[in-house]
Amino acid sequence: MARWPSRPARALVFGADYNPEQWPRSVWREDMALMRQAGVNLINLGIFSWAQVQPTADTFDWDWLDEIVDLLHDNGIAVDLGTGTSSPPPWLTTLHPEILPVTADGRTLSPGGRQHWRPSSPVFRRYALDHVRTVASRYAEHPALVLWHVNNELGCHNVDDFSDDAALAFRSWLQDRYGDLEALNFAWGTAFWSQRYSAWEQILPPRRAANFPNPTQQLDYKRFSSWELQDYLRAEVAVLRSVTPDIPVTTNFMVMGNGVNGMDYPAWAGEVDLVSNDHYLIGARPDAYEELCFSANLTRGIAGGGPWFLMEHSTSAVNWQPVNPPKSPGQLQRDSLTHVAYGSDAVSFFQWRASIAGAEKYHSAMVPHAGPDSQLFRDVCALGSDVAALAEVLGTLAISSQVAMVFDWTSWWASELDSHPSNLLRYREVALAWHHAFHTAGIGVDVQPLAADLSPYAMVVAPLLHVVDAATRDRLTDYVEGGGHLVTTFFSGIVDGNDHVHLGGYPGALRELLGVRVEELGPLLPGVEIALSGGGTASTWAERISLVDARPVLTYADGTAAVTRRTVGSGSASYVGALLDPASHQRVLGELSLLAGVAASGESSVVRRVRGDGERQFVFLINESTDPCSASIEPGVDLLTGRQVSGTIELEPFAVAVIRLS
Ligand code: GAL
Repeated sequence: MARWPSRPARALVFGADYNPEQWPRSVWREDMALMRQAGVNLINLGIFSWAQVQPTADTFDWDWLDEIVDLLHDNGIAVDLGTGTSSPPPWLTTLHPEILPVTADGRTLSPGGRQHWRPSSPVFRRYALDHVRTVASRYAEHPALVLWHVNNELGCHNVDDFSDDAALAFRSWLQDRYGDLEALNFAWGTAFWSQRYSAWEQILPPRRAANFPNPTQQLDYKRFSSWELQDYLRAEVAVLRSVTPDIPVTTNFMVMGNGVNGMDYPAWAGEVDLVSNDHYLIGARPDAYEELCFSANLTRGIAGGGPWFLMEHSTSAVNWQPVNPPKSPGQLQRDSLTHVAYGSDAVSFFQWRASIAGAEKYHSAMVPHAGPDSQLFRDVCALGSDVAALAEVLGTLAISSQVAMVFDWTSWWASELDSHPSNLLRYREVALAWHHAFHTAGIGVDVQPLAADLSPYAMVVAPLLHVVDAATRDRLTDYVEGGGHLVTTFFSGIVDGNDHVHLGGYPGALRELLGVRVEELGPLLPGVEIALSGGGTASTWAERISLVDARPVLTYADGTAAVTRRTVGSGSASYVGALLDPASHQRVLGELSLLAGVAASGESSVVRRVRGDGERQFVFLINESTDPCSASIEPGVDLLTGRQVSGTIELEPFAVAVIRLS
C-alpha cells in the first residue's frame, strides 16, 4: 500500500514539473499567482538542477532554490523535491569522462543532452549519492517537502550501457546468479558456436558481434541492466531514508516505455513508497487513447491496485515525436481523468511553464508560450477545478474487474529477441490488441504483472507468454484446476527462464494444460493471410494445431483448429494459435468470455471504471470518442457538475462524468 505525501491533505494532487532556474525571479511571482489560480497544490522541483545547485565540484548555490521552496510554501504549495541526479553537470563529465555510457558498437556517448551516465559507474554513484545526501540534508526540515523524487525516468536514455564498467558489473551479477561457470555455460547453451567460457573475464555484455549474440546472454543482459538501475534506485532511496525517514520516496516510471522496455517495473515497485508513472500519447497511433488506458491500467497493476501518482503527462503537444500536433478541445480533461479512473490520485504535468530555450521549448505546458490569456491555460484552470471536485476519491482503490491480462517483462524481452521465427511479433502490440478487444466488448479488464495473485479473476488472458518456467506452469495449472479460465496465445510456453526450448511439441510448458500440440511454429510472411471459417483472416502468425484433449472454438477455412478450449473441472484453458483480424478476435473473445461467465456491457465507446473503498463507490464514465454517447448509470451525483443522475447519462464528445453512487 502506498505511503502518500502528507500534503495536499484531503485533495488529489494537481501540479507539474517546475523549472524556475530557467526564469528570472520576476516570473516566479507571476507563477505563484497563476499556480494558485489553476489550483496547483504540489510541484516537482529541482528535477534537473544539479549544475545549478552545484556549479563546480566544491561550490553550492542554494539561494535560488531556498527562495523558491520558501515561495512555494508561502503559497500553500507542497514540494516533491528532485534529487537532481539525472543529468550530470559538465564539470563532472570533464573531470570523469569515464562515467559516460557506451553503445553496443563501442561509441562513447557525449554529454550535452541528459542521462549521460553509466548505471554501473562507481564514480558516478559516488558523486551522485554525495549530491543526494547534500540536497536531502539541506531540505530535510523544510515544511514544504512532502515527497522525494529520485533522479528522473531512470534508464530512459541509458539503460543499455556496454561500457567496461558494465562488463565488470555484469560478471559479478552473473556470478551471483549462477555461482559457477558450468552453470552459466549450461544456461547460455555455450556448446553452440564454440562459445564455451573457461574464465569469468572472458564474459562481455552482448556488444555488437559478427552475428547474433547468444540469446540467453542477451536476455540476462536485459535482466542485469534492469537490476543495475534498480540497485542504483535503492542506493538513492537508502540515502534519502537515512536523512528523512518520514518523507515518502518515489521515482517516475514509464511503464509503456515509448521504445524503452529495459526496466522491469513490477520488480522495482517494492523499492519506492508510492508508484508514479509518466505517460505521453503517441500521436501517430490510431489507438493512442487505448494505449493511454493500457498504460494507466498496467500502472495500477504494478501499484498493487493503487493509488498511484501520475507524475507527468502533457497538457497538449510534445516535442519529441516526428510530428507533434496539439490536443483537441476536451482531450486534456479526458486524458487526465482517465488516469484518475484507473487509480491515480495525482494529475501532474511536464511542465508548468513552457521553456523559451532548450530542446523542450516546443513542448506544451500548463502556461503556454501564449501566456495565461490562452485557451490552454483556461482549460488547465478548468481541469484544476475538476480535480479539486474529485477530492473525495482520494485513497480509494480502482476496483478489480472480472478479467486480468498478464503483462510480463521477461516475456516481452525474450519474445522479441533476434534470430526468431518472425521479427514481426511485438509483445506490447499483441497485449494492446487484447486490451482493445476487451474494451470494444465493454468488458472490464485489469492489467497485472505475472507475479500478481490471479486467483480472484474469473478469466486470465496471458498473450505471448513466451517464457514459462515450471513454477509459472504450476501456478497457471492451479489457477485452471481451481476453476479459473485461462486464455493464452501462440508463441507462449515455448522456453524456460534460460531461454531453452521445452521439448515434445509446442506450446511447450503449457501443452498439457491446453490439451493441444503444435509441431511447427506458424510465422507468416508479410501480406499472407489465412482464411478463417465464417469469414475473417489470420496474419503474421497461424499455427497448425493438433487437438489432444481440447475442442475447437474457431477453425481455419480448411476446418482445422485455430482457437481451442479444454475444460478442466469448472475451469478451462484456451489457446489462440493465430493472430486474428480485429473482428474475429472480438468474436473469439466474446465466446470465451461468455463461457467463462464474464459479463459484457457492450458499451464500446465508454470507458467505465469504478473506484471505491468498501463504503463508497465512484463510477467514472469517459466518452473516449468525438461523437456524443449515452451510458447507463445507477442513481448518484456527478461530482464534476453536482447534478443528480439516474438511469441514463448523456456524454458529450470526450466528456467525463464521475458518479458517486447513492
Ligand atoms: C519525460 C521527461 C521530462 C520531459 C518529458 C517531455 O520523458 O521525464 O523531463 O522530458 O518527457 O515529454
